[in-house]
Amino acid sequence: MARFMVEGGFPLRGRVMASGAKNAVLPLMAAAVLAAGEYRLVGVPRLADVEVMAEILRRLGVKVREEREGDLRCLCLDTRTMREWRIHEFLMRGLRSSIFLLGPLLGRMGEATVSFPGGCAIGPRPVDLHLQALRALGAKLDESHGCIHAQAAALTGGEVVLSYPSVGATETAIMAAVLARGETVLRGAAREPEIVDLQNFFNGLGARIRGAGTTVIRITGVERLHSMGQHCVISDRIEAGTYLLAGAISGGEVQVDGARADHLRAFLHKLVRAGVVIRENEAGITVEGTRRLQGVTLKTGPYPGFPTDLQPQISVLAALAEGESRITETVFENRLGHWNELRKLGARVLLKDRTALVAGGQLRGAKVAADDLRGGAALILAGLAAAGETVVEGSGHIDRGYENLEGKLGSLGARIRREVDEVGKLASG
Ligand code: EPZ
Repeated sequence: MARFMVEGGFPLRGRVMASGAKNAVLPLMAAAVLAAGEYRLVGVPRLADVEVMAEILRRLGVKVREEREGDLRCLCLDTRTMREWRIHEFLMRGLRSSIFLLGPLLGRMGEATVSFPGGCAIGPRPVDLHLQALRALGAKLDESHGCIHAQAAALTGGEVVLSYPSVGATETAIMAAVLARGETVLRGAAREPEIVDLQNFFNGLGARIRGAGTTVIRITGVERLHSMGQHCVISDRIEAGTYLLAGAISGGEVQVDGARADHLRAFLHKLVRAGVVIRENEAGITVEGTRRLQGVTLKTGPYPGFPTDLQPQISVLAALAEGESRITETVFENRLGHWNELRKLGARVLLKDRTALVAGGQLRGAKVAADDLRGGAALILAGLAAAGETVVEGSGHIDRGYENLEGKLGSLGARIRREVDEVGKLASG
Protein backbone atom coordinates (compact mmCIF):
# COMPACT_ATOMS: atom_id res chain seq x y z
CA MET A 1 0.00 0.00 0.00
CA ALA A 2 1.07 3.63 -0.32
CA ARG A 3 0.97 6.24 2.36
CA PHE A 4 1.47 9.98 2.84
CA MET A 5 4.11 11.33 5.24
CA VAL A 6 3.23 14.83 6.50
CA GLU A 7 5.44 17.14 8.57
CA GLY A 8 3.13 19.56 10.45
CA GLY A 9 3.49 23.15 11.60
CA PHE A 10 4.17 25.00 8.33
CA PRO A 11 1.70 27.77 7.38
CA LEU A 12 0.58 27.24 3.75
CA ARG A 13 0.93 30.16 1.37
CA GLY A 14 0.22 30.53 -2.34
CA ARG A 15 -2.33 29.60 -5.01
CA VAL A 16 -3.73 26.32 -6.29
CA MET A 17 -6.19 25.66 -9.09
CA ALA A 18 -9.32 23.64 -8.31
CA SER A 19 -9.75 20.66 -10.66
CA GLY A 20 -12.96 19.70 -12.45
CA ALA A 21 -15.59 18.28 -10.09
CA LYS A 22 -15.42 14.51 -9.55
CA ASN A 23 -19.16 14.49 -8.69
CA ALA A 24 -20.00 16.28 -11.93
CA VAL A 25 -17.69 14.26 -14.22
CA LEU A 26 -18.93 10.82 -13.10
CA PRO A 27 -22.62 11.46 -13.98
CA LEU A 28 -21.57 13.33 -17.15
CA MET A 29 -19.59 10.28 -18.34
CA ALA A 30 -22.65 8.13 -17.69
CA ALA A 31 -24.93 10.67 -19.41
CA ALA A 32 -22.85 10.49 -22.62
CA VAL A 33 -23.97 6.85 -22.96
CA LEU A 34 -27.56 7.97 -23.54
CA ALA A 35 -26.93 9.16 -27.09
CA ALA A 36 -24.83 7.84 -29.97
CA GLY A 37 -22.26 10.50 -30.70
CA GLU A 38 -18.93 12.08 -29.85
CA TYR A 39 -18.82 14.11 -26.63
CA ARG A 40 -15.85 16.06 -25.28
CA LEU A 41 -15.61 16.82 -21.56
CA VAL A 42 -13.18 19.64 -20.78
CA GLY A 43 -11.46 19.89 -17.38
CA VAL A 44 -11.59 16.23 -16.32
CA PRO A 45 -9.49 15.51 -13.22
CA ARG A 46 -7.06 12.57 -13.18
CA LEU A 47 -8.72 10.57 -10.38
CA ALA A 48 -8.98 6.86 -9.65
CA ASP A 49 -12.81 6.99 -9.75
CA VAL A 50 -12.74 8.68 -13.18
CA GLU A 51 -10.32 6.05 -14.53
CA VAL A 52 -12.59 3.24 -13.28
CA MET A 53 -15.64 4.86 -14.91
CA ALA A 54 -13.64 5.22 -18.16
CA GLU A 55 -12.81 1.50 -18.02
CA ILE A 56 -16.47 0.61 -17.48
CA LEU A 57 -17.42 2.72 -20.53
CA ARG A 58 -14.73 0.99 -22.61
CA ARG A 59 -16.18 -2.43 -21.68
CA LEU A 60 -19.58 -1.18 -22.84
CA GLY A 61 -17.98 -0.46 -26.23
CA VAL A 62 -17.41 3.28 -25.82
CA LYS A 63 -14.16 4.69 -27.26
CA VAL A 64 -12.48 6.85 -24.60
CA ARG A 65 -9.64 9.15 -25.68
CA GLU A 66 -7.68 11.65 -23.63
CA GLU A 67 -6.70 15.07 -25.05
CA ARG A 68 -5.13 18.24 -23.68
CA GLU A 69 -6.49 21.78 -24.07
CA GLY A 70 -3.81 24.00 -22.56
CA ASP A 71 -3.53 22.91 -18.91
CA LEU A 72 -6.87 21.15 -19.06
CA ARG A 73 -7.30 17.42 -19.52
CA CYS A 74 -10.18 16.44 -21.78
CA LEU A 75 -11.94 13.13 -22.32
CA CYS A 76 -13.44 12.40 -25.75
CA LEU A 77 -16.19 9.80 -25.52
CA ASP A 78 -17.36 8.16 -28.74
CA THR A 79 -20.52 6.29 -27.78
CA ARG A 80 -21.52 5.32 -31.33
CA THR A 81 -19.86 1.92 -30.99
CA MET A 82 -21.67 0.89 -27.81
CA ARG A 83 -23.08 -2.61 -27.84
CA GLU A 84 -23.21 -3.89 -24.28
CA TRP A 85 -25.84 -3.16 -21.62
CA ARG A 86 -24.54 -5.30 -18.75
CA ILE A 87 -22.06 -4.09 -16.18
CA HIS A 88 -20.32 -6.98 -14.50
CA GLU A 89 -20.15 -7.21 -10.76
CA PHE A 90 -16.43 -6.72 -10.41
CA LEU A 91 -16.71 -3.41 -12.25
CA MET A 92 -19.64 -2.29 -10.08
CA ARG A 93 -17.70 -3.19 -6.98
CA GLY A 94 -14.91 -0.93 -8.20
CA LEU A 95 -17.12 2.11 -8.37
CA ARG A 96 -20.33 2.82 -6.48
CA SER A 97 -21.20 5.56 -8.96
CA SER A 98 -21.65 3.05 -11.77
CA ILE A 99 -25.30 2.96 -10.63
CA PHE A 100 -25.50 6.21 -12.63
CA LEU A 101 -25.29 4.08 -15.79
CA LEU A 102 -28.59 2.31 -15.12
CA GLY A 103 -30.78 5.18 -16.41
CA PRO A 104 -28.75 5.98 -19.56
CA LEU A 105 -28.27 2.31 -20.50
CA LEU A 106 -32.00 1.78 -20.16
CA GLY A 107 -32.77 4.89 -22.21
CA ARG A 108 -30.28 3.92 -24.93
CA MET A 109 -30.53 0.13 -25.11
CA GLY A 110 -34.00 -0.51 -23.62
CA GLU A 111 -32.36 -2.90 -21.22
CA ALA A 112 -29.68 -2.76 -18.51
CA THR A 113 -28.16 -5.07 -15.93
CA VAL A 114 -26.07 -3.78 -13.05
CA SER A 115 -25.18 -5.33 -9.73
CA PHE A 116 -26.14 -3.62 -6.53
CA PRO A 117 -23.33 -1.18 -5.76
CA GLY A 118 -21.44 -2.10 -2.62
CA GLY A 119 -21.93 -0.09 0.54
CA CYS A 120 -18.90 1.79 1.75
CA ALA A 121 -17.32 3.07 4.94
CA ILE A 122 -19.87 5.88 5.33
CA GLY A 123 -23.04 3.82 5.10
CA PRO A 124 -25.08 1.11 3.30
CA ARG A 125 -25.73 3.39 0.27
CA PRO A 126 -29.14 1.98 -0.89
CA VAL A 127 -30.46 2.70 -4.41
CA ASP A 128 -34.22 2.34 -3.78
CA LEU A 129 -34.89 5.94 -4.86
CA HIS A 130 -33.09 5.36 -8.17
CA LEU A 131 -35.28 2.29 -8.82
CA GLN A 132 -38.45 4.12 -7.75
CA ALA A 133 -37.68 6.89 -10.27
CA LEU A 134 -37.15 4.40 -13.12
CA ARG A 135 -40.37 2.53 -12.29
CA ALA A 136 -42.27 5.84 -12.37
CA LEU A 137 -41.03 6.26 -15.98
CA GLY A 138 -42.25 2.84 -17.03
CA ALA A 139 -39.20 0.64 -16.43
CA LYS A 140 -39.70 -2.99 -15.38
CA LEU A 141 -37.13 -3.89 -12.73
CA ASP A 142 -36.20 -7.31 -11.38
CA GLU A 143 -33.82 -7.67 -8.49
CA SER A 144 -32.22 -11.04 -8.01
CA HIS A 145 -28.84 -12.51 -6.98
CA GLY A 146 -27.50 -9.08 -6.15
CA CYS A 147 -28.29 -7.78 -9.64
CA ILE A 148 -30.79 -5.29 -10.97
CA HIS A 149 -32.19 -6.08 -14.40
CA ALA A 150 -34.13 -3.22 -16.01
CA GLN A 151 -36.24 -3.31 -19.17
CA ALA A 152 -38.28 -0.68 -20.96
CA ALA A 153 -39.35 -0.87 -24.60
CA ALA A 154 -39.83 2.89 -24.34
CA LEU A 155 -39.65 5.04 -21.23
CA THR A 156 -42.61 7.37 -20.78
CA GLY A 157 -42.66 10.66 -18.92
CA GLY A 158 -44.35 10.76 -15.54
CA GLU A 159 -44.25 12.21 -12.06
CA VAL A 160 -41.36 11.26 -9.78
CA VAL A 161 -41.54 12.27 -6.13
CA LEU A 162 -38.35 11.68 -4.13
CA SER A 163 -38.85 11.17 -0.39
CA TYR A 164 -35.25 12.37 0.12
CA PRO A 165 -33.32 14.76 -2.17
CA SER A 166 -30.88 12.06 -3.28
CA VAL A 167 -28.23 13.47 -5.66
CA GLY A 168 -27.81 10.19 -7.53
CA ALA A 169 -31.51 9.43 -7.77
CA THR A 170 -32.15 12.95 -9.12
CA GLU A 171 -29.48 12.36 -11.77
CA THR A 172 -30.88 8.91 -12.62
CA ALA A 173 -34.37 10.38 -13.06
CA ILE A 174 -33.07 13.18 -15.33
CA MET A 175 -31.05 10.75 -17.47
CA ALA A 176 -34.01 8.40 -17.90
CA ALA A 177 -36.46 11.24 -18.72
CA VAL A 178 -34.42 13.09 -21.37
CA LEU A 179 -35.44 10.71 -24.21
CA ALA A 180 -38.64 9.44 -22.59
CA ARG A 181 -41.92 10.09 -24.37
CA GLY A 182 -43.74 13.11 -22.89
CA GLU A 183 -43.34 15.28 -19.81
CA THR A 184 -41.60 14.32 -16.58
CA VAL A 185 -41.95 16.29 -13.37
CA LEU A 186 -39.40 15.48 -10.68
CA ARG A 187 -40.37 16.73 -7.21
CA GLY A 188 -38.19 16.69 -4.13
CA ALA A 189 -35.12 16.87 -6.37
CA ALA A 190 -31.62 17.45 -5.01
CA ARG A 191 -30.30 20.97 -5.75
CA GLU A 192 -26.51 20.41 -5.96
CA PRO A 193 -24.50 22.42 -8.55
CA GLU A 194 -23.47 19.12 -10.17
CA ILE A 195 -27.11 18.58 -11.12
CA VAL A 196 -27.24 22.01 -12.78
CA ASP A 197 -24.07 20.99 -14.67
CA LEU A 198 -25.80 17.81 -15.88
CA GLN A 199 -28.82 19.85 -17.05
CA ASN A 200 -26.51 22.22 -18.95
CA PHE A 201 -24.70 19.31 -20.59
CA PHE A 202 -27.93 17.72 -21.79
CA ASN A 203 -29.54 21.00 -22.88
CA GLY A 204 -26.38 21.71 -24.90
CA LEU A 205 -27.22 18.51 -26.81
CA GLY A 206 -30.82 19.55 -27.48
CA ALA A 207 -32.55 18.19 -24.38
CA ARG A 208 -35.31 20.21 -22.72
CA ILE A 209 -34.70 20.30 -18.95
CA ARG A 210 -35.73 23.14 -16.65
CA GLY A 211 -35.42 23.74 -12.93
CA ALA A 212 -32.14 22.01 -11.98
CA GLY A 213 -30.92 23.70 -8.79
CA THR A 214 -34.47 23.84 -7.45
CA THR A 215 -36.61 21.08 -5.92
CA VAL A 216 -38.83 20.76 -9.01
CA ILE A 217 -37.24 19.74 -12.31
CA ARG A 218 -39.30 19.47 -15.50
CA ILE A 219 -38.09 17.45 -18.46
CA THR A 220 -39.82 17.37 -21.87
CA GLY A 221 -38.68 14.24 -23.66
CA VAL A 222 -37.06 14.72 -27.07
CA GLU A 223 -36.66 12.32 -29.97
CA ARG A 224 -32.87 12.41 -30.01
CA LEU A 225 -29.85 14.33 -28.84
CA HIS A 226 -27.18 15.98 -31.00
CA SER A 227 -24.45 13.56 -32.02
CA MET A 228 -21.65 15.94 -31.09
CA GLY A 229 -21.06 18.14 -28.11
CA GLN A 230 -18.51 19.70 -25.78
CA HIS A 231 -18.93 20.62 -22.12
CA CYS A 232 -16.67 22.32 -19.60
CA VAL A 233 -16.97 20.63 -16.22
CA ILE A 234 -17.65 22.87 -13.18
CA SER A 235 -14.87 23.17 -10.61
CA ASP A 236 -14.77 20.83 -7.64
CA ARG A 237 -16.31 22.66 -4.67
CA ILE A 238 -15.31 19.90 -2.23
CA GLU A 239 -11.68 19.87 -3.35
CA ALA A 240 -11.69 23.70 -3.18
CA GLY A 241 -13.15 23.64 0.34
CA THR A 242 -10.48 21.16 1.40
CA TYR A 243 -7.64 23.47 0.26
CA LEU A 244 -9.31 26.52 1.82
CA LEU A 245 -9.37 24.60 5.12
CA ALA A 246 -5.69 23.69 4.67
CA GLY A 247 -4.91 27.42 4.54
CA ALA A 248 -7.17 28.17 7.48
CA ILE A 249 -5.91 25.53 9.92
CA SER A 250 -2.22 26.02 9.08
CA GLY A 251 -2.47 29.76 9.84
CA GLY A 252 -1.37 30.64 6.30
CA GLU A 253 -2.92 32.42 3.31
CA VAL A 254 -4.21 30.31 0.40
CA GLN A 255 -5.99 31.29 -2.81
CA VAL A 256 -7.97 28.59 -4.62
CA ASP A 257 -8.41 29.62 -8.26
CA GLY A 258 -11.60 28.40 -9.91
CA ALA A 259 -13.38 28.05 -6.55
CA ARG A 260 -16.95 29.38 -6.79
CA ALA A 261 -18.15 31.13 -3.63
CA ASP A 262 -21.77 30.69 -4.80
CA HIS A 263 -21.26 26.89 -4.54
CA LEU A 264 -19.77 27.13 -1.03
CA ARG A 265 -21.97 29.64 0.87
CA ALA A 266 -22.84 27.44 3.88
CA PHE A 267 -19.23 26.25 4.21
CA LEU A 268 -17.70 29.76 3.91
CA HIS A 269 -20.19 31.05 6.48
CA LYS A 270 -18.88 28.51 9.02
CA LEU A 271 -15.25 29.40 8.25
CA VAL A 272 -16.03 33.07 8.96
CA ARG A 273 -17.77 32.08 12.21
CA ALA A 274 -14.55 30.22 13.14
CA GLY A 275 -12.56 33.44 12.72
CA VAL A 276 -11.12 32.77 9.26
CA VAL A 277 -10.81 35.76 6.90
CA ILE A 278 -12.39 35.03 3.49
CA ARG A 279 -11.83 37.18 0.40
CA GLU A 280 -13.77 36.44 -2.81
CA ASN A 281 -12.19 37.67 -6.03
CA GLU A 282 -12.44 37.27 -9.80
CA ALA A 283 -10.16 34.24 -9.90
CA GLY A 284 -11.55 32.41 -6.87
CA ILE A 285 -11.39 32.59 -3.07
CA THR A 286 -8.60 33.48 -0.63
CA VAL A 287 -8.53 32.42 3.02
CA GLU A 288 -6.34 33.85 5.74
CA GLY A 289 -6.01 31.44 8.64
CA THR A 290 -5.64 32.56 12.19
CA ARG A 291 -3.94 30.92 15.15
CA ARG A 292 -7.06 31.71 17.18
CA LEU A 293 -9.72 29.54 15.51
CA GLN A 294 -13.11 29.50 17.25
CA GLY A 295 -15.26 26.38 17.65
CA VAL A 296 -18.26 25.90 15.31
CA THR A 297 -21.72 24.34 15.54
CA LEU A 298 -23.09 22.83 12.34
CA LYS A 299 -25.37 20.20 10.88
CA THR A 300 -24.74 18.78 7.42
CA GLY A 301 -27.67 18.66 5.00
CA PRO A 302 -28.66 18.48 1.33
CA TYR A 303 -27.48 21.44 -0.79
CA PRO A 304 -27.51 24.39 -0.10
CA GLY A 305 -26.95 23.15 3.45
CA PHE A 306 -23.49 22.44 4.85
CA PRO A 307 -22.01 19.75 2.56
CA THR A 308 -21.53 16.32 4.10
CA ASP A 309 -18.43 15.93 1.91
CA LEU A 310 -16.69 18.72 3.87
CA GLN A 311 -17.80 17.51 7.32
CA PRO A 312 -14.73 15.31 8.03
CA GLN A 313 -12.43 18.12 6.93
CA ILE A 314 -14.02 20.86 9.07
CA SER A 315 -13.87 18.41 12.00
CA VAL A 316 -10.11 19.04 11.97
CA LEU A 317 -10.70 22.77 12.41
CA ALA A 318 -12.94 21.89 15.37
CA ALA A 319 -10.22 19.67 16.85
CA LEU A 320 -7.81 22.64 16.75
CA ALA A 321 -10.15 25.50 17.68
CA GLU A 322 -10.42 27.25 21.03
CA GLY A 323 -13.59 26.18 22.82
CA GLU A 324 -16.25 23.66 21.94
CA SER A 325 -17.72 22.54 18.61
CA ARG A 326 -20.82 20.52 17.83
CA ILE A 327 -20.92 18.74 14.46
CA THR A 328 -23.92 16.67 13.41
CA GLU A 329 -23.96 14.47 10.29
CA THR A 330 -27.51 14.07 8.95
CA VAL A 331 -26.90 12.76 5.40
CA PHE A 332 -24.99 9.50 5.94
CA GLU A 333 -25.48 6.94 8.70
CA ASN A 334 -21.85 6.40 9.51
CA ARG A 335 -19.67 9.35 8.64
CA LEU A 336 -17.89 10.08 11.94
CA GLY A 337 -15.30 7.31 11.58
CA HIS A 338 -12.47 9.77 11.03
CA TRP A 339 -12.67 10.66 14.75
CA ASN A 340 -11.22 7.25 15.70
CA GLU A 341 -8.08 8.27 13.81
CA LEU A 342 -8.13 11.93 14.87
CA ARG A 343 -8.13 10.74 18.51
CA LYS A 344 -4.74 9.09 17.83
CA LEU A 345 -3.48 12.61 17.04
CA GLY A 346 -4.82 13.90 20.36
CA ALA A 347 -8.29 15.11 19.34
CA ARG A 348 -10.76 15.30 22.24
CA VAL A 349 -14.27 14.32 21.14
CA LEU A 350 -17.42 12.70 22.51
CA LEU A 351 -19.47 10.87 19.87
CA LYS A 352 -23.21 10.60 20.49
CA ASP A 353 -25.38 9.11 17.70
CA ARG A 354 -24.52 11.27 14.68
CA THR A 355 -23.07 14.17 16.68
CA ALA A 356 -19.47 14.92 17.59
CA LEU A 357 -18.97 17.15 20.65
CA VAL A 358 -15.43 18.45 20.29
CA ALA A 359 -13.13 20.20 22.78
CA GLY A 360 -10.43 21.90 20.69
CA GLY A 361 -6.73 21.71 21.49
CA GLN A 362 -3.35 20.71 20.09
CA LEU A 363 -2.65 17.77 17.75
CA ARG A 364 0.53 15.68 17.75
CA GLY A 365 1.74 13.61 14.82
CA ALA A 366 1.01 9.86 14.82
CA LYS A 367 0.38 6.93 12.45
CA VAL A 368 -3.23 6.92 11.20
CA ALA A 369 -5.19 5.17 8.44
CA ALA A 370 -7.72 6.49 5.92
CA ASP A 371 -10.88 4.40 5.61
CA ASP A 372 -12.75 6.53 3.07
CA LEU A 373 -12.11 9.42 0.73
CA ARG A 374 -13.10 12.50 2.76
CA GLY A 375 -12.04 11.01 6.08
CA GLY A 376 -8.64 10.47 4.49
CA ALA A 377 -8.53 14.09 3.37
CA ALA A 378 -9.28 15.11 6.96
CA LEU A 379 -6.30 13.09 8.20
CA ILE A 380 -4.00 14.89 5.75
CA LEU A 381 -5.32 18.25 6.99
CA ALA A 382 -4.74 17.14 10.58
CA GLY A 383 -1.16 16.20 9.69
CA LEU A 384 -0.56 19.70 8.32
CA ALA A 385 -1.46 21.19 11.71
CA ALA A 386 -0.11 18.49 14.08
CA ALA A 387 3.29 18.87 15.70
CA GLY A 388 5.81 16.47 14.21
CA GLU A 389 5.27 13.80 11.58
CA THR A 390 1.94 12.15 10.71
CA VAL A 391 1.80 8.99 8.59
CA VAL A 392 -1.50 8.55 6.72
CA GLU A 393 -1.93 4.97 5.44
CA GLY A 394 -4.42 4.19 2.66
CA SER A 395 -3.56 6.83 0.06
CA GLY A 396 -5.72 4.88 -2.41
CA HIS A 397 -8.87 6.19 -0.74
CA ILE A 398 -7.64 9.78 -1.08
CA ASP A 399 -6.57 9.36 -4.72
CA ARG A 400 -10.20 8.61 -5.58
CA GLY A 401 -11.10 12.28 -5.13
CA TYR A 402 -7.99 14.47 -5.04
CA GLU A 403 -5.88 15.03 -8.15
CA ASN A 404 -2.16 15.44 -7.42
CA LEU A 405 -2.74 16.09 -3.72
CA GLU A 406 0.91 16.12 -2.69
CA GLY A 407 1.83 18.31 -5.68
CA LYS A 408 -0.82 20.91 -4.90
CA LEU A 409 -0.16 20.96 -1.15
CA GLY A 410 3.59 20.93 -1.78
CA SER A 411 3.27 24.01 -4.02
CA LEU A 412 1.74 25.78 -0.98
CA GLY A 413 4.75 24.91 1.20
CA ALA A 414 3.39 21.78 2.86
CA ARG A 415 5.98 19.12 3.79
CA ILE A 416 4.18 16.09 2.34
CA ARG A 417 5.45 13.10 0.38
CA ARG A 418 3.99 9.85 -0.87
CA GLU A 419 5.73 6.59 0.05
CA VAL A 420 4.96 3.32 -1.70
CA ASP A 421 5.93 0.21 0.25
CA GLU A 422 7.28 -2.99 -1.32
CA VAL A 423 3.78 -4.46 -1.74
CA GLY A 424 2.63 -1.22 -3.34
CA LYS A 425 5.63 -1.30 -5.73
CA LEU A 426 4.79 -4.87 -6.73
CA ALA A 427 1.10 -3.96 -7.18
CA SER A 428 1.89 -0.95 -9.34
CA GLY A 429 4.15 -3.13 -11.46
C1 EPZ B 1 -23.46 11.87 -4.05
O1 EPZ B 1 -23.60 10.53 -3.60
C2 EPZ B 1 -21.96 12.14 -4.01
N1 EPZ B 1 -21.26 11.22 -4.92
C3 EPZ B 1 -21.43 11.95 -2.59
O2 EPZ B 1 -20.04 12.30 -2.60
C4 EPZ B 1 -22.17 12.94 -1.68
O3 EPZ B 1 -21.74 12.74 -0.34
C5 EPZ B 1 -23.68 12.68 -1.77
O4 EPZ B 1 -24.12 12.79 -3.15
C6 EPZ B 1 -24.48 13.67 -0.93
O5 EPZ B 1 -24.19 14.97 -1.33
C7 EPZ B 1 -21.32 11.45 -6.26
O6 EPZ B 1 -21.95 12.38 -6.72
C8 EPZ B 1 -20.55 10.50 -7.12
P1 EPZ B 1 -27.30 10.58 -2.14
P2 EPZ B 1 -25.05 9.80 -3.70
O7 EPZ B 1 -28.05 9.66 -3.04
O8 EPZ B 1 -25.76 10.25 -4.90
C9 EPZ B 1 -29.70 7.91 0.91
C10 EPZ B 1 -17.75 12.01 -2.14
O9 EPZ B 1 -17.09 11.95 -1.10
N2 EPZ B 1 -30.24 7.25 -0.28
O10 EPZ B 1 -27.61 12.04 -2.14
O11 EPZ B 1 -24.83 8.35 -3.47
C11 EPZ B 1 -28.23 7.56 1.12
O12 EPZ B 1 -28.11 6.34 1.83
C12 EPZ B 1 -19.09 11.28 -2.23
O13 EPZ B 1 -17.42 12.64 -3.18
C13 EPZ B 1 -31.29 6.36 -0.15
O14 EPZ B 1 -31.76 6.10 0.96
O15 EPZ B 1 -25.75 10.41 -2.39
C14 EPZ B 1 -27.71 8.72 1.92
O16 EPZ B 1 -28.00 8.50 3.30
C15 EPZ B 1 -19.45 10.57 -0.92
N3 EPZ B 1 -31.77 5.73 -1.27
C16 EPZ B 1 -28.54 9.89 1.40
O17 EPZ B 1 -29.68 9.33 0.73
C17 EPZ B 1 -31.27 5.99 -2.51
O18 EPZ B 1 -31.77 5.41 -3.50
C18 EPZ B 1 -27.78 10.79 0.43
O19 EPZ B 1 -27.41 9.98 -0.66
C19 EPZ B 1 -30.19 6.90 -2.63
C20 EPZ B 1 -29.70 7.52 -1.50
